[in-house]
Amino acid sequence: MKLLVTGGAGFIGACFVRQTIADTNDEVVVLDSLTYAGNLENLAGLEESGRFKFVRGSICDPEAVEEAIEGCDAVLNFAAETHVDRSITDPGIFVETNVQGPRVLMSAAQTRKLRYLQVSTDEVYGSLGPDGYFYETTPLDPSSPYAASKASADLLVGAYITTFGLDAVITRCGNNYGPYQFPEKLIPLFITNALEGRELPLYGDGLNVRDWIHVEDHARAIRTVLEKGETGKAYNVSAGGELNNRQICERILEILGKPWDLVRFVDDRPGHDRRYALDATLLRTELGWEPQVRFDAGMQGTIDFYRDNTQWWERIKSGEYMNYYDRMYAQRLADSDPQPSGQGVHT
Ligand code: NAD
Ligand code: TYD
Repeated sequence: MKLLVTGGAGFIGACFVRQTIADTNDEVVVLDSLTYAGNLENLAGLEESGRFKFVRGSICDPEAVEEAIEGCDAVLNFAAETHVDRSITDPGIFVETNVQGPRVLMSAAQTRKLRYLQVSTDEVYGSLGPDGYFYETTPLDPSSPYAASKASADLLVGAYITTFGLDAVITRCGNNYGPYQFPEKLIPLFITNALEGRELPLYGDGLNVRDWIHVEDHARAIRTVLEKGETGKAYNVSAGGELNNRQICERILEILGKPWDLVRFVDDRPGHDRRYALDATLLRTELGWEPQVRFDAGMQGTIDFYRDNTQWWERIKSGEYMNYYDRMYAQRLADSDPQPSGQGVHT
């Protein structure tokens, strides 16, 4: 098979591509515009396989998509703007990339009768209370502009299936962690900040819950859905890894041997979803996928990666991105209430 993988220079896309080249005989074409989040170092060495090609271009550009899709058998769309905080300060690019991009890709896939897989997210379902789970049948109720743009793409996938008969499937996964994640997301930001002796900015009361999964398990789930998923269906992807943000902080600081004093409670994110938790029974029972990475081992490996590959993230954290981060962090500190007295894990 020859796969078009869009957004393959990002965190999850690159993991999927590395797995595909290592574990199958497939050919891969990556189409990626290399935004601030795209990084060719994530794909280093894959040319040697003779089964890998990189095309720089945007999924919103029909000509770039035409060039990249030539000879492919399926399209997997990982390309997106992905950071919720950025979607609050600059929503426009999220609509452009995350809605218009999938439309261009689906039109190209439809013309050639190719299978299309949309990499979506649990955030399309909105926020849960302390109990219950998101099912594939849960109504979409996104909170952030990021989540709304991803939900819009999911609806568009449904429309392309119903109206044009597109052979399409959707995956909806929880929060990923692992090597090569851009250090603006919670886990790599906190690991690298702790390594640098910087504060860890915990939003609100730090009790928001996410459903964590190792990126390699997510990539294997995507492969499973590509091969066995039923056209028209969405599949939740979860390893049952619910943890709140204080617990994540504690694990990171414990493994690194750093003090809780590094934690700084800052102003909450507007519209901050309280809890995500997915029911992935469909993926497990119908398609036979099972997660392989336990959280403790995955977290240790992730911390080892950031400890052993400082040049990978120090370059990112020294550039334009850090100007953005410092501005945002200063704003949150300025807006924050006095520090809550509670420390450590409160569930
Ligand atoms: P990322 O931000 O690390 O990478 C995104 C990639 O898309 C980058 O390589 C970037 O250059 C590329 N890109 C952006 N705009 C593009 C455009 N117009 N054309 C071509 N390429 C473009 O993201 P990620 O964390 O790897 O997420 C990948 C996908 O998985 C996204 O669709 C995201 O919504 C979804 N997802 C992410 C998570 C998570 O925890 N990170 C969880 C569930 C779903
Ligand atoms: P994030 O990694 O941005 O993923 P998402 O918002 O898509 O779930 O954030 C994960 C959780 O961590 C979320 O509850 C917000 C919180 N968070 C902080 O407390 N501080 C931070 O600096 C960041 C980036 C996130």
